Amino acid sequence: MKPMSPFFSTGEGCITAEVRGLLMEILKVRVPLSFELALERSGLSPLLIKGKSILPIVQGGMGVGVSAHKLAGAVAQCGGMGTISSIDLRRLHPDLMEGTKYLKPSPESKELINQANIEALKREILMAQEISKGRGLIAVNIMRAVNEYAAYVKCSLENGVDAIVVGAGLPLDLPDLAADYPDTALIPILSESRGIHLLLRKWEKKGRLPDAIVIEHPRWAGGHVGASSIEEVQNPKFDFETVIPDTLAIFKTMGLEGKIPLIAAGGISSFDDIKRLQDLGASAVQLGTAFAVTTECDADDEFKKVLAEASPEDMVDFLSAAGLPARAVKTPWLTQYLEVLPKLQDVARKKPRCTMTFDCLHDCGLRDGNSQWGQFCIDKVLGSALVGNVQKGLFFRGAGKLPFGNQIKSVPELIIKLLEKSLEPPLHVNPAY
Ligand SMILES: Cc1cc2nc3c(=O)[nH]c(=O)nc-3n(C[C@H](O)[C@H](O)[C@H](O)COP(=O)(O)O)c2cc1C
Repeated sequence: MKPMSPFFSTGEGCITAEVRGLLMEILKVRVPLSFELALERSGLSPLLIKGKSILPIVQGGMGVGVSAHKLAGAVAQCGGMGTISSIDLRRLHPDLMEGTKYLKPSPESKELINQANIEALKREILMAQEISKGRGLIAVNIMRAVNEYAAYVKCSLENGVDAIVVGAGLPLDLPDLAADYPDTALIPILSESRGIHLLLRKWEKKGRLPDAIVIEHPRWAGGHVGASSIEEVQNPKFDFETVIPDTLAIFKTMGLEGKIPLIAAGGISSFDDIKRLQDLGASAVQLGTAFAVTTECDADDEFKKVLAEASPEDMVDFLSAAGLPARAVKTPWLTQYLEVLPKLQDVARKKPRCTMTFDCLHDCGLRDGNSQWGQFCIDKVLGSALVGNVQKGLFFRGAGKLPFGNQIKSVPELIIKLLEKSLEPPLHVNPAY
């Protein structure tokens, strides 16, 4: 028997490409046929955002420069949501980097760096949109904790991104910033239902609700995680089995049942994980590390190798300069930093200026002399990781296993693997249609 499409039935299966294209347009289906078939076989449900139907797979934003146009565009081209991380993207544009690398510290230099980063973000969005060919969704991830948060939101909205995803702080002002862009999806990242409830109440008063919510598990996710201390990261209160049902109960009391899709993030690596999370009530999943080790990822191959080859014993949780717990691979820089941290904390003092001139973080442990927070320049070490400097870089990574072990595969291969039940024969993938 012919399987039914989750999007629309093809009857005898003899519709032409043109008719199918038209139907996809009308139904706002943004998934190419090969991936639609894979989704159909998987029995998983599509993700609906702003009436657009895509694969239930989201590639999480990864700074600095790790998820830019190549990765986000490739994910969207397959019919998923690809996310560009907005921070310090000039690093991917030699002309912009050269023009701003050696500036003397001054308010004018800071302004020039910020302008270069906005120009880089604009270029990245346009290139990702071109790669995606109108499929999937292109999102921009912006950390609430960065100084240029509002400017990155404005640039993303003006350049027509499908969604703005905000983490590392509560984006209570996002509906105001996006008031003139009702068609852009707004997606906050949170880790527990209490924060979700607070945000919903505040946003409701502003007349706008999230178009989806990412629930990121602090025990598993890579990079900065949403817990108040390193110890709290392990708290079982963050388990999806707790947070998802609690959030659905909140939706019920607020009359929002079925209105806001939940996207679970952290430690997801297989079809079974996605199935389990959809059964729990999530609509989709977000993966970071697994996408960071794809051929299309915008970081250097050495970066991918460090992440792919790390074992659970190589992982470490520590406090970032942004004041949040973070998770990374224990590479040489991080090992040495953690050894000398007590001494650095003893001498922590407010600095006359930011190491990189542009004050990337609103509050920075190093610049502000806050000894309770991380004592390093986050932009510098993440920038070193991006170019594959294993000695000097900070390599953010999630704690979970990877779908292909230590192998580097392409985005289409990863997405198909995630949609495939383990016993099924592999599907031939042609992302071009
Ligand atoms: C290298 C790396 C950088 C990341 N940077 C960011 C970031 O800038 N903003 C953000 O919201 N999340 C960031 N994350 C988190 C991911 O978007 C994603 O939610 C998380 O990694 C999911 O967990 P997983 O890696 O186990 O799949 C980062 C993760 C990694 C691995």
